[in-house]
Amino acid sequence: VPKGHRWHASFYDRLMRSTERRIMADLRARVLGPLEGTVLEVGAGTGANLPYYTRAARVVATEPDPYMLEKARERLRDVNHPAIDLKLASAEALPFPDASFDHAVATLVFCTVPDPERALREVRRVLKPTGRFHFVEHVRGEGLVGRVQDALRPVWKFFAAGCVINRRTAELIESAGFVIESLERRRLQFGVPLLVGVARPAERQSPASAR
Ligand SMILES: C[S@@+](CC[C@H](N)C(=O)[O-])C[C@H]1O[C@@H](n2cnc3c(N)ncnc32)[C@H](O)[C@@H]1O
Repeated sequence: VPKGHRWHASFYDRLMRSTERRIMADLRARVLGPLEGTVLEVGAGTGANLPYYTRAARVVATEPDPYMLEKARERLRDVNHPAIDLKLASAEALPFPDASFDHAVATLVFCTVPDPERALREVRRVLKPTGRFHFVEHVRGEGLVGRVQDALRPVWKFFAAGCVINRRTAELIESAGFVIESLERRRLQFGVPLLVGVARPAERQSPASAR
């Protein structure tokens, strides 16, 4: 568990305010509102998603940065849901048994996770075989946008608390053993693509079908 980013945690909501109004708030409502059953959120940050879990029976929101988690705790006080828990944990090492959630959620997280392959395998492990992984992630664009993202990567990483601006998250999701069922491409800002998707665990090959 990292030591955390105190400054980033205190300014995150203010830095995100216009993005929230323009695009994120609607997406959060649309993606999270319908989820039922048990939900795991990774990288919950300041808890921006917490008000939107209106139908879920139980939500466990995890976050490895203690300063972010503290902000999420403050936000949770105003959320009217009887069963949302917050837990300090990295997505690379989720403290839950296999196949324990109906849904997993990540919004603007896999850009920042240091080992996304490992984290995605963890998400897959804790999801039920019938479960779904819902993600909203900015990714590397095509052409000039992608090349600008490549060039900005080191500076951006420093100023944006570890965010890797040119990550190819959809490809990583698939190679971690998911099938992407739906994928909508929006624009976050400056032509940077924002993917809104749902993935399900790919069926493991049984010894019989491998023959
Ligand atoms: C850009 S913020 C997004 C926060 C929130 N999900 C949202 O939609 O506003 C990225 C978050 O990922 C978290 N993060 C960084 N490394 C992580 C890891 N290894 N596992 C899970 N979350 C991580 C950061 O602490 C931060 O809270």
